[in-house]
Amino acid sequence: MVPDDVRHVLGLPYYAEIARIAERGLMDSIFLADNLAIAGYRVTHLPQTQFDPISVLSALAAVTSHIGLIGTGSTTYAKPWDLARRFATLDHLSGGRAGWNIVTTVTPLAAAAFGEASHPDPAERYVWAHEFTDVVTHLWDAWEDDALVGDRERGVWADRSKVNDPHFHGQFHRVDGILPFPRSPQGRPVLVQAGQSSAGVGLAAKYAELVFSGPPSLEAAVKFRTTLHEQVVKAGRHPDQVLVLPALMVTLGSTEAEAQERARTLEELSSPEFRWQNALYTAGLDPDAFDPDLPLPEPTGSVPSSRAERLYAAARARPEASLREVAQHIEGGAGQTHFVGTPEQLADMIIEWQDAGAVDGFTVMGSTLPYELATFVDQVVPVLQKRGRFRTEYTGSTLREHLTG
Ligand SMILES: Cc1cc2nc3c(=O)[nH]c(=O)nc-3n(C[C@H](O)[C@H](O)[C@H](O)COP(=O)(O)O)c2cc1C
Repeated sequence: MVPDDVRHVLGLPYYAEIARIAERGLMDSIFLADNLAIAGYRVTHLPQTQFDPISVLSALAAVTSHIGLIGTGSTTYAKPWDLARRFATLDHLSGGRAGWNIVTTVTPLAAAAFGEASHPDPAERYVWAHEFTDVVTHLWDAWEDDALVGDRERGVWADRSKVNDPHFHGQFHRVDGILPFPRSPQGRPVLVQAGQSSAGVGLAAKYAELVFSGPPSLEAAVKFRTTLHEQVVKAGRHPDQVLVLPALMVTLGSTEAEAQERARTLEELSSPEFRWQNALYTAGLDPDAFDPDLPLPEPTGSVPSSRAERLYAAARARPEASLREVAQHIEGGAGQTHFVGTPEQLADMIIEWQDAGAVDGFTVMGSTLPYELATFVDQVVPVLQKRGRFRTEYTGSTLREHLTG
């Protein structure tokens, strides 16, 4: 198989190469998203794998030594004990590099995949998510730090008196039973959250150490971070305990004209059907239920996500326009900010956003991989280092140490 064969995405070497490049660039972590169900249109157009993130990250733990390994886990479709064990396992195997991106799962297609009669509405999913996260942290905390004895002579693995069964009996979850192994290197894997609605921000304020966001502008990013910090304080925590890393799509070129040309070529390669279907799917709506040549009908029930709110608002602003036309102006990925330009210009933008109090860093998404990532590492990171804005070596060994170091 030649390296640029698209089937390459199905093998570990593809992921290993990306992880190694990111680690060469001294980045805090790599992040694997997950949606749990795949819409039919994505089968046709998108060479994505959506492998189980923990399996991939566990394999990557073996081929990297420092970089953090963050994966998505669903509070609606997983069981707390199982999820707690899986992320704690990753934390052990990686020497303390695991992070859990807490999501409630927005796509209603997940319900059918999991044999559920219906997909809960957003308010219910977030109430559920609070309790779920609470149980998971209780499970991680159940083994005290010094419960492990490891004494061969006396034949003692652990001190039973230092292992406290959480006996969690909540409104939705009932968990009796400890995790089968001692506390992982970070104690708790790093908690990450990406919901943008007020309920999503509420969950982040209570638990998250790192927040992925998707602001459409610098002003929106400042506002989001300020609101989040206010909520963090209300939840009894300090704003410094929560880092905000907006998603930033990047298309790079050695000149601005070259970057624009790359962006235009990529845009032309995309299927005309993909954009409107992706706008619906990423908003938690079923693409098969809509006609792209008619205006988007008003919602009949609750709106499934903050992204769907934005899509409906865009449709209301142009009532005559078809869904296809409205979707043309909606970014389909996780974020809404797309940078197109040179490495120098990107370094300038990163510094500008940081200095404006909009971000603590970015979740960089290359419009192609590994090209944009390798270019970022080889040409943007050195500029940031030269300006004293980026580490020149890893000083810690765990993900939490990278975030706070
Ligand atoms: C950078 C970023 C990454 C995300 N990753 C995932 C993911 O892997 N899986 C998922 O189901 N949702 C993901 N989301 C979506 C959010 O977790 C959330 O479900 C969605 O924004 C709907 O919630 P909201 O209405 O509170 O915004 C991501 C969002 C952003 C901005």
